[in-house]
Amino acid sequence: MFLHIKVYIVGFIYFLGILFMILFPPRNFEQSGTKMRRVRSTGYNLKYKEYIDYETMLGVIQHMTTEDPEMVDIVTLTPHTAANNSLIALELHSDVHSKKPGILVIGTINGMVWGGPNTILELAEKLLYDTNYQTPFFNDYDWYLIPIANPDALNFTTSLRDYTSVDATEWSRNISARTKTKPSEWHKNIDKETSDQPCFGTNINRNFAYHWQDDVYKTPVHCSQYYPGAKPFSTAEAQAIREYVHKLADIVHLAIHLHASFVPKKEFILYPWRYTSRQPSNFQTLQEIGEYAARQARLPDGRLFEVHQGSSDARVAGSLSDYISGVIGTDLVFVVKPYHEIFPNYTDTVALEIYVQKSISAILSLVRGWRSNTKQNTLSFFGKDVEF
Ligand SMILES: *[C@@H]1O[C@H](CO)[C@@H](O)[C@H](O)[C@H]1NC(C)=O
Ligand SMILES: *[C@@H]1O[C@H](CO)[C@@H](O)[C@H](O)[C@H]1NC(C)=O
Ligand SMILES: *[C@@H]1O[C@H](CO)[C@@H](O)[C@H](O)[C@H]1NC(C)=O
Ligand SMILES: *[C@@H]1O[C@H](CO)[C@@H](O)[C@H](O)[C@H]1NC(C)=O
Repeated sequence: MFLHIKVYIVGFIYFLGILFMILFPPRNFEQSGTKMRRVRSTGYNLKYKEYIDYETMLGVIQHMTTEDPEMVDIVTLTPHTAANNSLIALELHSDVHSKKPGILVIGTINGMVWGGPNTILELAEKLLYDTNYQTPFFNDYDWYLIPIANPDALNFTTSLRDYTSVDATEWSRNISARTKTKPSEWHKNIDKETSDQPCFGTNINRNFAYHWQDDVYKTPVHCSQYYPGAKPFSTAEAQAIREYVHKLADIVHLAIHLHASFVPKKEFILYPWRYTSRQPSNFQTLQEIGEYAARQARLPDGRLFEVHQGSSDARVAGSLSDYISGVIGTDLVFVVKPYHEIFPNYTDTVALEIYVQKSISAILSLVRGWRSNTKQNTLSFFGKDVEF
């Protein structure tokens, strides 16, 4: 009698299972990237072996969208920069019909990060065409990429590269010191807020309207490399990024600012806040995902990225990462800072390759860390998590 009831119950459960599969079928294979993809490259070698400038970036993404119009979209952001360049966003979608959790990566807000465009285009190339990256990185997410967020300063710093270096403050103040010289560092854009002074440029990563200037008592002078602008969002670059990230507010779950550390052996994965030492409410999760990523993305010499809240080193207000976290409300926001030389040798690309490999590895490890943290696509077998 009991046996009969058990058999009926088990049969009924199977029936429910079959019904579920029919009502909610697994992802439609026909429409997925797996089917659409043509594999064109595999392995870990870089495709772009020279520093990519703004024009080259335009050419590369134009080529990508011509080759694969169903998967690649180009969005031109407004307004134009001081040198009349546009920030360009590259969007990669593995399915035509379904929306997936979005990942946003923004690079080269600092014009001295010459390896930023290479990293993001190389990442796009791998996501689109390399089977090693298909699962899990491309098929499960939509990617939103801004390879060059500060095109003017990238052009500015690379075109002065062969000149003699002069202290940045001296260079900024003294126009007659500028002939055949370059500033020793440049963390700003190149816009001229007022015409009457020699100093120019605003630090875009201090120009966002979230606790703007909350870290300082006195506005840095215009000549300073940390000049935050006359007001929040005074720069075209920050305005363009603002508009874009607001549009993506409900779509993006993980946002990464690809930055650089200019100090050897000081390489970081940071998370909000940067303007205060107060911890964000999901501090634990951010630290865990960051540490997971650091272990996965072990640096070539065996060290690990240091993982901590951004303000642990120095308080920085008005930054992009705080804005995305505090205003847009994205849960998972990270700043990735692998080492990048200041004014590296433009023709010797060994350093470029190292920066690109470290950066891609850190970005993808953060995605893995996120998956592992939320147990997406994992099954627990006798206490051991297995990813599929
Ligand atoms: C800026 O560039 C756009 C095209 O990108 C062009 O139509 C416009 O004339 C340019 N403006 C200036 C002032 O050069
Ligand atoms: C780069 O700067 C040069 C002048 O130094 C200018 O002619 C060129 O149009 C600039 N390119 C971009 C992309 O800003
Ligand atoms: C400006 O730079 C020039 C050339 O390096 C130098 O001769 C001059 O003394 C500098 N002026 C000031 C006020 O420092
Ligand atoms: C830059 O690198 C190239 C190629 O490795 C080398 O030939 C050149 O001497 C280097 N230049 C400097 C200034 O070190």
